Amino acid sequence: MLNIRLSDRLITAHPRVLAVAVTAQPRPALQPGSGVVHADLRTQLEAYLADIDHNGQAGTVAALPRPLAMPRRVLLVGVGDGDESGWRTAGAALARVAATDEALDIALPDGTAPDAVRGLAEGLWLASYTFSLTRRRPPAADETRPSDRGFSPGRRDAEVFVDGDPDQVLRKVTLLTTDASDPDGGYATALGQAHSVATATRFARDLTNMPSEEKTPAWFADQVVSNAAGKTGLDVRIWAGDELASTGFGGVIAVGGGSTRAPRLVQLSWQPAEARRHVVLVGKGITFDTGGICIKPREGMKLMRKDMGGAAAIIAVTLAAADLDLPVRITALAPLAENMASGSAWRPGDIVRHYGGRTSECLNTDAEGRVVLADALAYAAAELTPDALIDLATLTGAAGVALGKRTAALYSDNAQLAGELCAAAEAAGERAWRMPLVDDYVRDIASEVADVANTSSAGAGSIAAALFLREFTGPARPNWVHIDMSAPAWSEAADGELAKGATGWGVRTLLRWLSEQ
Ligand code: BES
Ligand code: MN
Ligand code: ZN
Repeated sequence: MLNIRLSDRLITAHPRVLAVAVTAQPRPALQPGSGVVHADLRTQLEAYLADIDHNGQAGTVAALPRPLAMPRRVLLVGVGDGDESGWRTAGAALARVAATDEALDIALPDGTAPDAVRGLAEGLWLASYTFSLTRRRPPAADETRPSDRGFSPGRRDAEVFVDGDPDQVLRKVTLLTTDASDPDGGYATALGQAHSVATATRFARDLTNMPSEEKTPAWFADQVVSNAAGKTGLDVRIWAGDELASTGFGGVIAVGGGSTRAPRLVQLSWQPAEARRHVVLVGKGITFDTGGICIKPREGMKLMRKDMGGAAAIIAVTLAAADLDLPVRITALAPLAENMASGSAWRPGDIVRHYGGRTSECLNTDAEGRVVLADALAYAAAELTPDALIDLATLTGAAGVALGKRTAALYSDNAQLAGELCAAAEAAGERAWRMPLVDDYVRDIASEVADVANTSSAGAGSIAAALFLREFTGPARPNWVHIDMSAPAWSEAADGELAKGATGWGVRTLLRWLSEQ
């Protein structure tokens, strides 16, 4: 991860890159940090700015090679209105433009708010993310990993798999400040917050990008254990095997039954000394979704390693809450299963008995996410008395059809909670839009043999999935929020602060909202 530090000195001797901000309003204007960018350079940059077409739009970068024969390039970077969002976009753009430079200096204009510094750092850290994976030696025979698999994969000890940009060499970013820009010393705090949020987002991306050959439910549970280990206030509980069945988690058992890689339910809790509220976060953790017996076509299946993006986000958020010492009690629940087609797989017509005794009829084994989530929601509602119960899931393709690639579908009967979370998403640079829980459509998921059917006969796929989940929220129903983030969980290309691949959607939104509780 990039090293970002604050400094009040411009070291002119080194051939580095210097970025200077340009705001859009009221007209494109240079925003130098006085004392850092000296008068001669400023005059030259202003003349240059007048010559070129720079409109100050956030993320627009114009490079001025070696002004005044200085041994450096100067980047004029648009920051839009100069708010947190504008600086986040600017940070992301700079991380890409300067990716092949070793060091980058960024002049912070006088009056830059700490929030802007937070946005800038988040943009830099999130856009410079790459996922890489080195395969070491194959596991020894006595190692647990593939023991329940029944066959051994090809030997791959020398193979190196890198997905990301190997040219990313930028290591060091210096934010140049003056006394005038940071009178209260708020920048260090802002950087600390950005660091926690970016670290959590990158962790969620790592989990989500991991190929499913490695990423079994047991592997995911191990990641939670090792990342929570030794941290005060964090606790992990894992249900596996017979214990899952005897506790009544029939949905997790049904969906996980088709795979040789056995399912898990992971509970990660953060219990600070003085908590005002108890928030329960539930995340869909399908480590691979083939569709099961109702198998997906290849095109629809190839990226289904991302189907645990919800679980990745809620786990990352809970770890970050401990890191930030947020005064909110959090319980994160991740039902983990691999949805496979095999002789032991669940099938259409099966009746699943969920935690607490409610039943669902399987009409489509590809509607598996709601079936594992139902167990976790029912457990949370019955046992955890949450003040808010929020689930995150890559639940339906339909949500993406309705709202496109970058906006999550949010459902709640609670207008206030829905409003708070949509606002938190907006502020954090993610987007969520409230969708209706149409009561008339409840009849479309009625079943003759169970309490509810897992698919609707009447379309509105994302709404039907939400209505299914609501059936399991019991007394927590008034405080329940469901977020279908199947589309924004993944980006087809590098875009702003998003890297190609997993986005870690939800980490920023939830941390923003939790910080306000
Ligand atoms: N994991 C998928 C949803 C999904 C689709 C996530 C595309 C990310 C990108 C989910 O389990 C699924 O298969 N949903 C079905 C539901 C249908 C069978 C009612 C879908 O969306 O087609
Ligand atoms: Mn599915
Ligand atoms: Zn799925």
